[in-house]
Amino acid sequence: MNLKIKNLTVEIENKVILKDINVDMTGGKIHALMGPNGSGKSTLAQVLMGHPQYTVVRNGQLPSIKLGKYELLNLSPDHRARLGLFLAFQNPVSVPGVTVANLLRTANAEKNSQEPRNGKKLHNPALSIIEFNEFLFKKTKNLNIAPELLRRGLNEDFSGGEKKKLEMLQAEILAPNFAVFDEIDTGLDVDALKIVSDSINHLKKQGSGILLITHYLRILKFTKPDFVYILVKGRLRQSGNYRLAETVEKHGYKRWLS
Ligand SMILES: Nc1ncnc2c1ncn2[C@@H]1O[C@H](COP(=O)(O)OP(=O)(O)OP(=O)(O)O)[C@@H](O)[C@H]1O
Ligand SMILES: [Mg+2]
Repeated sequence: MNLKIKNLTVEIENKVILKDINVDMTGGKIHALMGPNGSGKSTLAQVLMGHPQYTVVRNGQLPSIKLGKYELLNLSPDHRARLGLFLAFQNPVSVPGVTVANLLRTANAEKNSQEPRNGKKLHNPALSIIEFNEFLFKKTKNLNIAPELLRRGLNEDFSGGEKKKLEMLQAEILAPNFAVFDEIDTGLDVDALKIVSDSINHLKKQGSGILLITHYLRILKFTKPDFVYILVKGRLRQSGNYRLAETVEKHGYKRWLS
C-alpha cells in the first residue's frame, strides 16, 4: 500500500517541527529518511502513527496522510495499526508484566480476526496456536534472539540491541502494509545489523512498504533503498536514490544547512 503525505505541518507547544511535508511513498519499496539530529524524523514517525502529543496544523491547505485508500489523520493509533501501519520506535518503551510471547500472540490473533485488507490478506495466513508458536520460534531463531526473551516482560531490562531486534520481530510477525523503522540500526552489533537488514529485505519481498529512518550508510548498504529523502529543520529538502545517501555520508548536511 502507498503511504501518501500531503500538506503536513506539525506543531508541538506552538513550535513548528515539521513544515509542509509532501511525499508519496510507494508500497513494496524501501524509502530511507535521513537528516541531522533534531530535524523532525522521529516526529514524522510519531505523527504517522497518530501520537496525540503532536498537533497537525489545519488552518492552511488541507493536510492528509493516506495509507492506500484510507485517510489516517482522524484515526487513533490503534485503528492505524489495524490498517497495517507499524512503527518501530527509536526508543522502545518497557511494558513490565506483558510478556513478549503474549503480546505477539495477541497481536497475531487480532490481526487474523480482521477482514482482509485492501482485498488481499498480506503474508501470514490464520494460524492455530501450535502453528503460531512454531512460526514465532522460527522468526525468533532467524533474528538470533534468545528464546528466553519471549518469556520476559516486553523490553524489561533488555539490552539496546535486544530491544531493536524485538521491534523487528514484531514487524515480522505483523507483516504490516507499511512499516516505519526509526533508527532500528542504532546499537546493533555488526552481525545483528546484517540480520535485521535481511529481515527488512524480507518484509519488502513480501510486499510491505518501508520507511527506514537512519543516520548511517551501513544499513542502507544492506537494504539498498529505492528512494532517499533528506529532512532538514522540519522540511523535506531533497529526494533521490541511494547515491544521495552516499553523498550525505561523504559531505554531511552542510549544503542544506547554509
Ligand atoms: N515533546 C516535545 N516538546 C518539545 N519539543 C519537542 C518535543 N518532541 C520533539 N521536540 C523537538 O522537535 C525537534 C525534532 O525532534 P525529533 O525527535 O523529531 O528529531 P529527529 O530528527 O528524530 O532527531 P534524532 O536524529 O536526534 O533522533 C527537536 O528539536 C525536539 O527537541
Ligand atoms: Mg529521532
